[in-house]
Amino acid sequence: MKYLALALLFSTSLMAASPEVVQYMKELESVAKTENRTFNGFDAVRGKEIFTSTHTGKQGKPMACTSCHSLNLANPGKNSLTGKVIDPLSPRANPQRLTSAKEVKKWLKRNFMDVYAREGTAQEKGDVLTYIMKN
Ligand code: HEC
Repeated sequence: MKYLALALLFSTSLMAASPEVVQYMKELESVAKTENRTFNGFDAVRGKEIFTSTHTGKQGKPMACTSCHSLNLANPGKNSLTGKVIDPLSPRANPQRLTSAKEVKKWLKRNFMDVYAREGTAQEKGDVLTYIMKN
């Protein structure tokens, strides 16, 4: 009994994402392995760099993920294009985050275009999700 409680505690504290989003990350992982032979697991440090660095976005202007999502993921953000407030991205601050694989796929595709003017690779998507999960 004691061990079961401990196991549950660990699994919930480590998994700040729903089972379907965890499943999506496993799919990203297998694609990342085929695209990069030196791939050795997702990395929150690389994810942070992806999230905080500035690039020339789709509109030809400097953009970062933090242009719309706050640098502190527990805080609300503000869409730099529309001015609309965005709820916090942190799954700890906002339990609705990382619950729907469909939403996550849709927004990662759109948001990588906004910031990088291209789609993210499987490794980049997994790295940035790993970073978001830890915040
Ligand atoms: C132009 C503004 C903008 C930029 C730049 C942006 N986002 Fe977003 N993002 C949004 C909006 C708007 C939503 C959807 C509204 C919402 O969920 O509150 C969203 C939703 C998301 C979600 C969905 C989370 C969930 O489970 O609900 C993820 C993940 C995400 N963004 C990651 C990123 C990453 C990674 C970057 C950088 C590559 C990025 N965003 C850059 C505006 C932006």
